[in-house]
Parts: sequence; C-alpha cells; structure tokens
Amino acid sequence: MRRRDADVAVFLGRSDGIPTPGDVSRLTQNERRRADGFRTAILRGHFIAAHAARQRILSAILGHPPGELRFSEAPGGKPVLRPPHHWLRFNLSHSAPWFLLACSARHEIGVDIEVLAKQWPGPLASAAFSGAERQALEREADPGRQNLLLHTVWVRKEALLKGCGTGLRMDPRDVTVDADPSLGISYPNRAGRPIGAWRILGLPPVPGAAVALAVAGVPRRICCWRITEASA
Ligand SMILES: CC(C)(COP(=O)(O)OP(=O)(O)OC[C@H]1O[C@@H](n2cnc3c(N)ncnc32)[C@H](O)[C@@H]1OP(=O)(O)O)[C@@H](O)C(=O)NCCC(=O)NCCS
Repeated sequence: MRRRDADVAVFLGRSDGIPTPGDVSRLTQNERRRADGFRTAILRGHFIAAHAARQRILSAILGHPPGELRFSEAPGGKPVLRPPHHWLRFNLSHSAPWFLLACSARHEIGVDIEVLAKQWPGPLASAAFSGAERQALEREADPGRQNLLLHTVWVRKEALLKGCGTGLRMDPRDVTVDADPSLGISYPNRAGRPIGAWRILGLPPVPGAAVALAVAGVPRRICCWRITEASA
C-alpha cells in the first residue's frame, strides 16, 4: 500500500543510538544545536535518529529533498511544515529507543510513545490525572496491571494534548481518557463533554512501551509501518 493512500500513516522506528553521518546531515541547524545539548552520546543518537527519520519520511511523502523542508511552530508550540507543505500534518514522539511519527493530509493528529517504567512515579498521578482517571487506577489492585494502566492513560492523554497542539500547556488533569488498555477507540472528555471530534486509537503493540494515536475526526484508513533505516 502506498503511504499516500492512508488517511493517517504511522511509522514506528527503533534507534540503536549510533547516528550515521547521513542522519546528521538531514537535520536542520536548530536540530543539530539541540542534538549537541544532550548529556550522553546515546541520547543524542536517539534524538538524531528520530529527527532524521522524520525528515526522510516527510520528504518522501512530499517528494522534496529533506533540505528543502521548512518547519515552524503553531501557536501552542506544535511543530508544523511551512507553506507550501503545511497541508501535511505530522506529529513525532520519542521514548528511547523508540520513535513514532504520524502523518496525515486530512486530520489533525497527535502521537505518544512511552517506554514502560518499572514503577510509575507516584506524585505524577496526582499532578497529571483527572479525578475519574485516578479512581479508575485505584480500582486496579494488581501493581503490574496498575502500572500498565498508568502508562496507557498517560500516552492517551499526551497524544490528545499533542494533537490539540497545546502539549502540557493545557492542564492534563482537565482531560479524562479511558484507562482500559484493550479499547481500540476511546473518546476523551473534559468535564464529561467530548473534546471536539477527537478520538484516541490504539496502535499495534510495541514491546515494552505504551502507544497511542489521537485523531480529530473519523479516519477511514490508518496504516502503520515499522521502519528500518533502509525503508524510511
Ligand atoms: C510537547 C510535550 C507534550 C512533549 O512531551 P514528551 O513526552 O516529553 O515528548 P514526546 O517525545 O512525546 O514529544 C516530543 C515531540 O512533540 C512535538 N511537540 C513539541 N511541542 C508540541 C506541541 N505543543 N504539540 C504537539 N507536539 C509537540 C515535537 O516534535 C517534540 O519532539 P522534539 O522535542 O524532539 O522536537 C511537552 O514537552 C510539552 O507540552 N511541552 C510544552 C510545554 C512545556 O514546555 N511545559 C514545561 C514542561 S511541563
């Protein structure tokens, strides 16, 4: 299936933390500056891999060399393409060693990937989750399952906030998402009311990580690819 046939195309990649010279050459000046600010070589490598893959994939879809793509930020800080390529929406998430990129010409989108921590930092639940979410999480007695639910809620919420473009500038406690990891589609709410036309979709499982995609509207076809260096 060609990438252009998808309403929403999602690409999952894994970095080994060792950037190739080709990867580095694809980064924008700003990305190179940011890459050089990482504390460790491996974190720098993961950042470079995610951003180089983003350039490769967007430029392949648009049919333009990576060096010709120009980015800016929407008012809430969401990275966007500048005209004439602004019609292609995208969102990137990375949690070492994974990165996830969603692209769509038809829908506003947000993605999140989070490697499962052995234990979710306790205070984060009260800082980030709504009352309804905390109640759902407290109902789960098994620590392992509770940890999975915490990550599930978090990635759903973050995918939504990133889709809306606010990121954590919107108070995450104001938004409630479903905690059930088995749900294929769920509908976030704010004080019991739907948040526009947003829906949250599960993605194919990623070993050791939680993932979510938020889409505004009703996508007809979502295609997911696992990318390798050669295919992106
Ligand atoms: C955007 C944000 C949700 C990222 O969360 P995260 O789990 O650390 O990181 P993810 O890997 O899932 O997403 C990061 C990517 O989202 C994208 N992004 C950045 N701001 C975004 C926004 N407002 N909306 C959607 N996507 C955004 C970028 O591509 C970013 O990648 P980059 O940093 O490598 O360029 C969070 O950092 C945020 O809201 N920042 C803005 C508010 C802020 O700085 N608050 C202080 C910290 S609480």
